[in-house]
Amino acid sequence: MSDPYQDDRGNKDRSIANPDGVGTLRPGHYSGHAHAASPGEPFLIGEEMSGGYGRGPDILHACTIAVERGQIAVIVGPNGAGKSTAMKAVFGMLDLRGGDVRLDGESIAALTPQARVAKGMAFVPQTSNIFTSLTVEENLEMGAFLRRDDIMRTMEQVYDLFPILRDKRRQKAGELSGGQRQQVAVGRALMTEPKVLMLDEPTAGVSPIVMDELFDRIIEIARTGLPVLMVEQNARQALEIADKGYVMVQGRNAHTGRGDELLADDEVRRSFLGG
Ligand SMILES: Nc1ncnc2c1ncn2[C@@H]1O[C@H](COP(=O)(O)OP(=O)(O)OP(=O)(O)O)[C@@H](O)[C@H]1O
Ligand SMILES: [Mg+2]
Repeated sequence: MSDPYQDDRGNKDRSIANPDGVGTLRPGHYSGHAHAASPGEPFLIGEEMSGGYGRGPDILHACTIAVERGQIAVIVGPNGAGKSTAMKAVFGMLDLRGGDVRLDGESIAALTPQARVAKGMAFVPQTSNIFTSLTVEENLEMGAFLRRDDIMRTMEQVYDLFPILRDKRRQKAGELSGGQRQQVAVGRALMTEPKVLMLDEPTAGVSPIVMDELFDRIIEIARTGLPVLMVEQNARQALEIADKGYVMVQGRNAHTGRGDELLADDEVRRSFLGG
């Protein structure tokens, strides 16, 4: 297929990434080129995933979500649609009854979440995504627990991305505002130097201004070349920054397309974006 960056709406202009700031925040061993993957294969894909919790009924019905290299992919849909379940399935927190999960062309469906982190996946869950009784800096250190190299450079990069966290690094994370906590959670995920970042509702419970700021930081992260797969309840705003959008309904893909295509789609607008 064509160059994966070609219709990259959100992060086309790499030149504006700050070379001294987050622009140097490099995902692990990310090369920007496929090696194992077949042409056109997304960097991370949960393909036709079916499954549920324990012995319970299927929540996901042949659901596919994916993100290409250098892009932002956004999953939207009503409450209970299975968005978080799909993310958990990609991260290995759910046994699949059908489908596959591939990272850079390699099936990782049999791996534990820990093994997926070692492969370069970072996941910020929707809830309980920070250690409230630990300081901001301790939270970031926890994010790097798998690393044996020097983590100080990455920590500085996280502080450059979220300067308020530098100011509050000795404060307990539980004392922070909602938006600041989400910054801690994203920062903790970045501490692993991941190859792909998965975020479940990173702007939950924050004001519109804080939401805009968080989205700007997420765009900045994606511009460094780190693909971002995220669930968002602020569907319209999220699709505006999305290269690819997935509308999920009752565990199924209802609509899939470029972010701007979905925003322009009458049915999507009427049913999911409030007209
Ligand atoms: N741990 C669990 N055990 C059993 N069922 C669950 C569990 N978590 C979620 N479910 C069920 O799975 C379905 C999908 O839930 P999920 O949390 O994935 O939806 P969602 O799209 O993320 O919703 P929201 O927008 O509210 O976050 C729901 O019917 C929910 O009750
Ligand atoms: Mg959810």
